Amino acid sequence: MSRHQPDQPDADATGQSQPLPTDDAPQPSSSENIAPNGPTQAIPVAPEPFRLSDTASLVMAWALPLYRDGAARRFIERLDLSAGEALRRQCEALCPWYREVILNRKAFISHLIERALATRPEPRQIIIPAAGASPLALELLSAHGDRISRVIEMDVSGMDRKRQLYAEVAPELTHKLNCLEVDVTDPAFRRALVLDGRYDPDVDAIVLLEGISYYLTPRDLVLFLMTFCSPTRRNRVVLEHLLPSADVNDPRRGIPNAVFKAIQAYGHLPRIQRYGLADAPALLREAGGTPDAHFTMDEMERHRIGKHHYFQQPRDGWIACMTGWI
Ligand SMILES: C[S@@+](CC[C@H](N)C(=O)[O-])C[C@H]1O[C@@H](n2cnc3c(N)ncnc32)[C@H](O)[C@@H]1O
Repeated sequence: MSRHQPDQPDADATGQSQPLPTDDAPQPSSSENIAPNGPTQAIPVAPEPFRLSDTASLVMAWALPLYRDGAARRFIERLDLSAGEALRRQCEALCPWYREVILNRKAFISHLIERALATRPEPRQIIIPAAGASPLALELLSAHGDRISRVIEMDVSGMDRKRQLYAEVAPELTHKLNCLEVDVTDPAFRRALVLDGRYDPDVDAIVLLEGISYYLTPRDLVLFLMTFCSPTRRNRVVLEHLLPSADVNDPRRGIPNAVFKAIQAYGHLPRIQRYGLADAPALLREAGGTPDAHFTMDEMERHRIGKHHYFQQPRDGWIACMTGWI
């Protein structure tokens, strides 16, 4: 029996996936499931949704339109994003088009990883700390499986459930997917990376930090990056980060300030770390790496929609992506 129900509710017009209905009535066991005059028939079991935290739900609710088909779509259809609904409404009251920022960021990061994969035929490892519920690993493996030896995802929570869900929606890809439940600021994560994640320092890697630098102090960020130092700097780094007000045009500063204040209050985050356009490359150098490019939101928007709409100039945006080698 397929565990995926083709008629299960889809994302609604607001982009919010609906939790599956539950039935409190006791279900008969399979031995009781006998038709009066026929052979045993399986009763379809509604798949259990993957319930996300408020902040993780918020990001995925905004990102939903990016995942239209394939394994990534099957994955996101199983997410229960209801915990982030009130926060999403609050953020959209502050900036009705905030979703565009997440769509631009995610589309551009996929593009950067695909571009990196295209430069060499040898399969590489992809490392994603703070992967949360992002289905990026499924997208990449579905489209470029021959160039990826494994994907190692890490997060402080939800990784057991994510591994289970991968097995349900994409069993053909699970041999390349490793989900580690670790705190990336705890030095013990390096041991788990090698032992459980099967990270191989001799295989070229692409390290993606999306939505995690906000939580890392400069020291934690440098220590994390140093884990992936290679003698010839052959590992690719993609670091997405939130800019300080000094790097953002004055009329725009209020948007991220208000939205992150709401997120902080909701998610009880102690503080949000911002890195400037000069800080991020300096930290990569401190870790032993070499930065080579930096992209601002106006470029990410033009890449996704073919023109500048909300972001006319580099300083109109408050999120940037730096790339480099380590
Ligand atoms: C906003 S979500 C981003 C998820 C995903 N990278 C994305 O961009 O869609 C931030 C994630 O960071 C995780 N996280 C925060 N601090 C962490 C830490 N010290 N170690 C591992 N994961 C962490 C949270 O659990 C959460 O899933």
